[in-house]
Amino acid sequence: MLAKKPPMGWNSWNTFGENINEQLILEITDILIEKGYKEAGYEYVVIDDCWALRERDKNGRLVPNPEKFPHGMKYIADYIHGKGLKFGMYSCAGVLTCAGYPSSYDHEYTDATTFAEWNVDYLKYDFCNFPKSGNCINAYLTMSLALRSCGRDILFAACNWGVQEPWQWMRSVGAHIYRSTGDIFDNYNSVKDIMLSQEKNFSMSAPGCFNDIDMLIVGMYGKGLVGVKDGCTDDEYKTHFVLWCLFGAPLMMGGDIRSVNDYSEKLMLNKELIRINQDEECRPPVILNSYNDDTNDNTTRKYFKILSDNEYILAFINYDDNPKDISAYFAEMGIPYSSEMGLEMTDIFTGEKLGMVRDFIRKTVPAHDCIVFKGALIHA
Ligand code: GAL
Repeated sequence: MLAKKPPMGWNSWNTFGENINEQLILEITDILIEKGYKEAGYEYVVIDDCWALRERDKNGRLVPNPEKFPHGMKYIADYIHGKGLKFGMYSCAGVLTCAGYPSSYDHEYTDATTFAEWNVDYLKYDFCNFPKSGNCINAYLTMSLALRSCGRDILFAACNWGVQEPWQWMRSVGAHIYRSTGDIFDNYNSVKDIMLSQEKNFSMSAPGCFNDIDMLIVGMYGKGLVGVKDGCTDDEYKTHFVLWCLFGAPLMMGGDIRSVNDYSEKLMLNKELIRINQDEECRPPVILNSYNDDTNDNTTRKYFKILSDNEYILAFINYDDNPKDISAYFAEMGIPYSSEMGLEMTDIFTGEKLGMVRDFIRKTVPAHDCIVFKGALIHA
């Protein structure tokens, strides 16, 4: 079974756009090993849009642009596989990709065979230029079956930006992850809007098929080639990464990991956070008090996540532009005072041990920042 856990890796789009080539992909592959990303769980190296020639060949096959990829795609696959990693590519359900390259509408089985021949392990499948007469669900079902019958295990990363509520049907059509939102940009509001638009849709995100809220912008600091390039602060990247981990979203890095700064590198390699993302039970967090007034205004959140092995995560997120006091009663987390139980809590970032905490906790959280505790449930 593919995608037992949220997939992890790197994708070329956010930082490099059309500016991709063989050397870049090989260098990224090397860095994944050298900097410890592979060891931390990052596995897929994905080439996004703009890798192909503008025309198919005379047999109707997609052709890599020889100026960008002089040795072809199988060469890259072999290199990546030689390092113990996996290789991802990109196509689209429409008649042209978003950047105007040939796309897989009505070529699904041919293209799946081509990707299998190139030893591809992952296919991101976009939704631009989709014919008005086409049927979106059927298009993803068709490519899903084409991949399932191509003779190779290829993870199907569907990317239809949330059209027709994919959380309702992408699991049925066989996708392993599905993009549920428009593109993320290197900007705090983009992170916040994407997260808040999807936080209630994660109930269907589970082993075999995960909700994908787009690539990580951690560490880009405005250096990407596509979209809004405001950049974020370290705290904002931290909150972004914490949210993706809490919700079990795929962790596909979008920054230039060859030159990312220390703060962001450590963040993306944070073992505690990755463990939360990869927990085998893959449960989305409870949104505490989500029907009370204090959390309906989208300024703060308290997320409570059950992990396997009697471990629990309590995260205070301050989405607001000002510092906020955030508090939680343990009864909200299913631990009333009368139970004589409490959480033995540790702050994941500072390492501060709070000891056994019961009844109530309150913290001041700086703007756009978060506090994350882990804890075991024990007798008082
Ligand atoms: C968008 C997609 C992006 C990227 C881009 C490539 O539709 O959401 O993640 O793949 O196309 O052109």
